[in-house]
Amino acid sequence: MDKLRTQVGIVGAGPAGLLLAHLLHLEGIESVIVENRSREYVEHRVRAGVLEHGSVDVLTQAGVGERMRREGLLHHGIELRFGASGHRIDFPSLTGGRSIMVYGQQEVVKDLIAARLAAGGRIQFEVADVAVHDIESTAPRITFRTIGGPAEVACEFIAGCDGFHGICRQAIPGQTLHVFERAYPFAWLGILAQAPPTHDELIYAYHERGFALYSMRSPQITRLYLQVAPDEDVARWPDERIWSELHLRLETSDGWKLREGPVLEKGITGMRSFVAEPMQHGRLFLAGDAAHIVPPTGAKGMNLAVADVRALARALAAFFHSKRSDLLDAYSAICLKRVWRAEHFSWWMTSMLHCFPDGDAFQQRLQRSQLEYVVSSHAAAASLAENYVGLPFG
Ligand code: APR
Ligand code: PHB
Repeated sequence: MDKLRTQVGIVGAGPAGLLLAHLLHLEGIESVIVENRSREYVEHRVRAGVLEHGSVDVLTQAGVGERMRREGLLHHGIELRFGASGHRIDFPSLTGGRSIMVYGQQEVVKDLIAARLAAGGRIQFEVADVAVHDIESTAPRITFRTIGGPAEVACEFIAGCDGFHGICRQAIPGQTLHVFERAYPFAWLGILAQAPPTHDELIYAYHERGFALYSMRSPQITRLYLQVAPDEDVARWPDERIWSELHLRLETSDGWKLREGPVLEKGITGMRSFVAEPMQHGRLFLAGDAAHIVPPTGAKGMNLAVADVRALARALAAFFHSKRSDLLDAYSAICLKRVWRAEHFSWWMTSMLHCFPDGDAFQQRLQRSQLEYVVSSHAAAASLAENYVGLPFG
């Protein structure tokens, strides 16, 4: 059996696992990542694309923000669109100068993998049968299988960064883990299109036919989403149907036109809210989607992953450098405070902007009133803006 020894064993090479490994490396702490997919797969998985102001700072300070600063799109606001007209929410004036960066999650992943490998970091891709053991002891282990046979990472801590469908959360005994969940009666159909954006900021549209989101990835690529039924079959959505629905939901009375282009990618994203508490058991620490999921309407998923591993890297550094375990003990509580704020914001944005299949005329009037309030009250707009750009780290 192939046996490795390290300080922190990390399961999962998404943004959480990769950034954690990098932040630990900057603190002189060794880690090994095990990932069940290939490098090619994780680098090309199309996911979210919005980085909060604070996430941009974390990546920049960690020395992995160079390409993001060059190729990412700095946005100073978003538009809320309803009743065929647009209303801009200006971030800097409402948040004391903060903004967001539009930069695809898979680009963050590529930058982090490159930085890890350049620094001699160990990432074991394409492993199978990953399991964690002895998490209540001071010598936990990760076992898995490679093409070469069975393997083991012996470590002092395990970071469960293996996403919602990973195995780490399940290793926490059922009686200590509390799960909070909400399902939504809709999903998003997302496309990437080879079309230069026609608008330079994101547009969140509330429409009686359903929600639509206009986003982008680069000056050549548009990213668009449509609210669809939760069990929708993507085969029922040929390109022409998608474009015609996007035109209907996004059009304005002043003649704004959405630019079409070849569809490069098409997929359905489920919508759910989920939190597992606590985010730690013994020497196993959960981070990112392994511990919590938000519906994408608030653009918070990747940012919560960044915030979790920032806290975890600090706590582990205090342990390894100063033998302090107070930050490790406080890890779950520190993260959950931010997680629940993001859960509320994401649920609130989702509830305000979607058509609920069982929603009656009363609910629609409430949604419309809320939207009108957000775009006309400074206090309400500031509340949306400060949550969207992200609250400062504690
Ligand atoms: N063993 C090893 N790796 C695993 C296992 C397993 N059993 N199960 C899952 N993984 C890997 C996945 O293949 C993936 O690469 O763990 C990684 C988890 O990465 P993400 O799902 O990207 O989660 P995270 O790093 O927490 O990032 C959160 O992802 O879903 C988006 O919107 C979300 O932007 C947010 C971000
Ligand atoms: C995206 O560009 O993929 C995106 C942007 C904002 C969201 C969700 C997704 O709220």
